[in-house]
Formats: sequence, C-alpha cells, structure tokens
Amino acid sequence: MASLSLPFETKYLPLKKFFNIYRRSMEETEEFWAEEARQLDWFKTWDKVLEWEPPFARWFVGGQLNASYICVDRHVKTWRRSKVAIYWEGEPGDVRVLSYSTLYSEVNRFASLLRRAGVTKGDRVALYLPMIPELPIFMLACARLGAIHTVIFSGFSAQALADRVNDVQAKLLITADGGFRRGKVVPLKEIADEAVALTPSVEKTIVVKRTGISVSMKPSRDLWLDDLLIKAASFIEPEPVESEHPLYILYTSGTTGKPKGIVQSTGGYLVYNYSTYKWVFDLREESVYWCSADVGWVTGHSSIVYAPLAHGAAIVMYEGAPDYPTIDRWWDIIEKYGVTIFYTSPTAIKMFMRYGEDWLKKHNLSSLELLGSVGEAINPEAWLWFYQNIGGERCPIVDTWWQTETGGIMISPAPGIECVPLKPGSATFPLPGVDAAVVNERGEPVAAEERGLLVIKRPWPGMLLGIYGNPERYKKAYWSTFPGMFYTGDYAVRDRDGYFWILGRADEVLKIAGHRMGTAELEDAAVSYSQVAEAAVVSKSHPVKGESIIVFAIPTEGSAPSVSLKKGLSDHMRRVVGPIATPEEIYFVSKLPKTRSGKIMRRVLKAVANDLPIGDLTTLEDETSVEEIVRSYQELEKEREEKK
Ligand code: WTA
Repeated sequence: MASLSLPFETKYLPLKKFFNIYRRSMEETEEFWAEEARQLDWFKTWDKVLEWEPPFARWFVGGQLNASYICVDRHVKTWRRSKVAIYWEGEPGDVRVLSYSTLYSEVNRFASLLRRAGVTKGDRVALYLPMIPELPIFMLACARLGAIHTVIFSGFSAQALADRVNDVQAKLLITADGGFRRGKVVPLKEIADEAVALTPSVEKTIVVKRTGISVSMKPSRDLWLDDLLIKAASFIEPEPVESEHPLYILYTSGTTGKPKGIVQSTGGYLVYNYSTYKWVFDLREESVYWCSADVGWVTGHSSIVYAPLAHGAAIVMYEGAPDYPTIDRWWDIIEKYGVTIFYTSPTAIKMFMRYGEDWLKKHNLSSLELLGSVGEAINPEAWLWFYQNIGGERCPIVDTWWQTETGGIMISPAPGIECVPLKPGSATFPLPGVDAAVVNERGEPVAAEERGLLVIKRPWPGMLLGIYGNPERYKKAYWSTFPGMFYTGDYAVRDRDGYFWILGRADEVLKIAGHRMGTAELEDAAVSYSQVAEAAVVSKSHPVKGESIIVFAIPTEGSAPSVSLKKGLSDHMRRVVGPIATPEEIYFVSKLPKTRSGKIMRRVLKAVANDLPIGDLTTLEDETSVEEIVRSYQELEKEREEKK
C-alpha cells in the first residue's frame, strides 16, 4: 500500500480498487483511456489517444465514429432492440414508451427529413423544444448526419433564443407549438417567431405539434414535422465523423453579458460519459435511469441523452412541473416506471422536504438503488433527508460536481467501482483521469482545510473543445488565471481525509435553483429597461433555490422608485431572459458602490444583501454610496418585516 502515490492524501487507501484504478489513470493515462474507448463502437480506430497543444486537447485523433450509431444502432443489433429506451410522460399524464427499435426508426426518419431540409455535416441546428421525445430524437438525428445541435432551454425568452441562434448562425430552428407547464401552455412557437424576426440566418423552422394550440405558420418558412414525416425514409447511413468533430454547442453563462457557446467533441465526450456513468451510477442496460433536469442544460445532454442511451439503459423523461398536479408527481413516476437510479438537484430535494413525508408514504420507492445530486452543493440536512426518505437508507447518494465545460462528471463517489465512505455535502474524490487540485491565488496547492480555487491540472476526454468562434475567450476564461491549469471558477476545500468540498462560485456566476446565470447578463437585461439608468445584480442565499437574484437599480431621471417600477423591471427581466431571471428583490438606490476605476463592487452589495461584514473598502470611490445602500436595504427589510 505504501507505494500508492496519489496526488492527494487520504486515509481511505484500503479502498484498493478505486484508488488503484485512479492511480493507473494518472500514471498510464493514454493506455487507460484507450481501454475505455475500446468499449464503444468505432468505424475507424484512433491513431493517437491524445494530442495536447495547451490549451487545446484532441482525443482519439484519427478515430471515426457516430454518436447516433453508438446510442441507437448498436443496440438494435442485440436483444436490446425490444427493450425500452424511453419512458416519457407528459404533464397532462399522456405516456409514450419507445423501444430501442422504435427509437432507431424515429432517429432515421428524423435524420432523413433533416437531410431533405438541406442539413449536412457541420451545419448548426437550433432546437427550442419542450421535454418531449422529439428533443432527444432530433439531437440524435443531427448527430447521425454529423450536424451540430444547439439546444436552447425552452424557458428562455425570444431575445435569449435569438442571441444564441445568431451566435451559431443556425439555418434551421426546430420548435413546437408549445409545451405544458403547470397546466398551462408555454407558447413556444410564438416566442420562436419573435426570435426568428431577429435571426437572419434561419431559413426554415420545423414545428412539432405538442399541445394542439393554434399557431401562425409562415408558408415559405415554417413546416409541420408531421407533414415532413410522411415522406421520410426509414434508413439514413450514419455519417462517420472524426473523433474531434463537434457533437454539440451548448450555451452557458460566464462573467460577461454574452453567453459562451461551449463546443463538445464527439469521441472524447462519448467515451468520457460512457465511462463515468458506469463508475458513478453503476449504469447498466437493465437500469431505469431518471435525471430530472431539462435537456436544455448540460446535465440533460449527458444524463438524459448520451450516457444512458450509449449504455442501452432505459431513460425516464418527464415534461412538466415537479409538483403538478399533486405534490407526489415525481414519486408516482418513480413507482410507475420502476426507476432504479434517480438523479436530481438540491433545490428540488429542499422543495420536497418542505412538503413533508406524508406524500411519500403513498408510494413504493423500493425500485431505487442509487441516488444522485448535481448543480449546486447539497447541504447535509437535505442529503440526509434524501438518503432516509427517498433512498430508504439503502441507496448511496452520489454528489456529482461538474460543469458545462467539463462535459461530464469530474468529482463524485464511484460506487460502480467501489464506494468510498460518504460524507453528506462532499463530492468526495476526483474520478479516474481527473487531476483536480485546490490552489491559492498563485496557483500553489493549499493545505488541508484551507479554502482555495478548484483547478484541473491535465486534460480529460470530456474537456470542452473551446468556445464557439472565440478561441481567445476560451484561453482567457479557463487558462489565463493559472497557466497550464483549467480554472473552474469554483472555491473548494479538501478536508484532512482528502475529500473535496465545493464551496460555490468565485466569479460573477450565479446558481439559481442549479441554473447557471451570469450577473452581467442579468444586469444587461435590467439596464435595457427604459426606466433604469444603472443596475448591479448580486445573489442572496436562499433556503430552497440556493441563490436568488437581488437587483440594485438606479432609476432614470424622472422615474421615481415605486411598486409599479419594481414590477415593470421584474417583468422586463423575465421577458428579456426568461422566468428564471425573475428577481427575488429589487432595491432602488441613487448610487452604486464603485472602485475608482469605475467597476461596481458587487462584493459590497452581496455583503449588504446577505447581512455579512462589508470588508475592505479602501478601493471604493465614494463611501456614501455604501451608506445609502445599507440604509435603503435596512429600510426595505423593515418594511417587509412589518408587512409580515
Ligand atoms: C456548480 C452543471 C457543488 C458549480 C452540471 C459549477 C456544484 C457549476 C455541483 C456548473 C456539486 C455543479 N456541488 N456545486 N455537486 N455541481 N455545481 O455549467 O459551481 O450548469 O461550477 O453545470 O455548478 O454549472 P453548470
């Protein structure tokens, strides 16, 4: 045991299997990943496992494969052809069950109509769809042709949709007449129409009929999916693509107002997700895997579509709100489909905790074998509640830390190999192949129990290829803070046993109910309101959502702070970004605290909003701004208390 050299110290070395695999992944990295990659079907084997020209990594260079072949075709050649691929449930209660052979035929038909619409390898196709089976089918159909899909979360507004479509220059936009949410129809086609007016690249839109509401169709541009399917072919040859060919572009928030288009490769991404889902979730073909995220976020890409389907597992997909029409909707779904692995967010767990346990008593959740959490840190109380009430004290919980940029899970227990003793609130250890460290501002490792920044010291197959159309931004965002190390933007600490604890973002990124939003994006939305001159956005900790949005705004001259101004600004932000951008609180002030160089000191605002010590103000330009903010904040707090 003494010879076991690990980049971190832990007293859990007796867990031989896990740490031996980890050590091998660090010492014989290329052989290790080559063995993993061989578990997938390649049309042509790679010549070289890794080409690392910092900060650009190319994995399985020279190899060729196709993601739809791996997720669908290879299963229909086995007994899995008749097993379930997708259990889908709509919010109104309608159900669709697709076997792998049905999924195969749908993916081929959809690919054929995409081809007919002129889509070829490398084209970008934008998908703005609710959580319906057509979403993964279109993703796989794009991949079949070597086209690059970009999924835009269906909760985003027209402007947010247009910005993303313009950035990728998509020729084709696929949407639906609407989707169901909390018993209402979200009019997606109407929103898409508004967006398309701002996106000159879009030549055609394909519309899925989901709700049956009447929508306006522009004859030269809009096509109903059902009409196109009549002429669809039943087989389209999967296009062999190079391993580093982009599989998708997914937008996420960073520190500037413009979201980043994270580009993922095909080969590296699939190998990474195939392997990590085996380790983390013990995912197998007989698993019934339910990830409650939306496909519009990275969690949905990896955990609903690519990883479980690559394994030939059955996925559960649910369209609507978690507690609709009754609070036990999710528990009903787990029981009905016999879910074995359930992967959700701390926000959802905290919401259900508040509803109490009576709703659970009506359901038999004994099919569950393993639980997972993602998107934000889980507090020990929520962890224990999840463990006891949902997992029946039987199921390990995998607290998985990762990011849109990492493509797949990076730090997590790995019960599929060997489960380390769990500590509620810790994501435990880096997975094999992940060289994670916690460093200080100079990039030096910090001691145990000292807070630092989380970095990754070598490339891994799921690492992003870059930011679409912006290699400089890619270098700056991830590789300039510490040369040679991938900067995650998260604070972390390792305890004396070597366990990693993720402490939240070190940058201007918020996590609202696990959804990632940049303060700059939200500030842009706030100042685009005609009656706001300046605005600063910070987060406040929230008992359920983790963080909530707090806006400090300076009204324009002639606009007086008022309840209606507040409502106007809040509605405007929802309209510009989407409902997730709804502020929790808005404060009107006459000045914002700024440094002498004019940068807003959000740290000060955050401290005020969270009732924390304000800290060092030596770089502040005008101290009266802070006094005013503290005063107005306290006044409003008092008012609110009185109202209660
Ligand atoms: C946060 C989501 C603590 C973190 C997959 C990260 C977490 C950001 C965890 C990425 C976790 C994700 N514990 N924090 N288990 N998982 N985060 O790109 O701040 O939407 O940097 O990817 O979520 O968010 P993203």
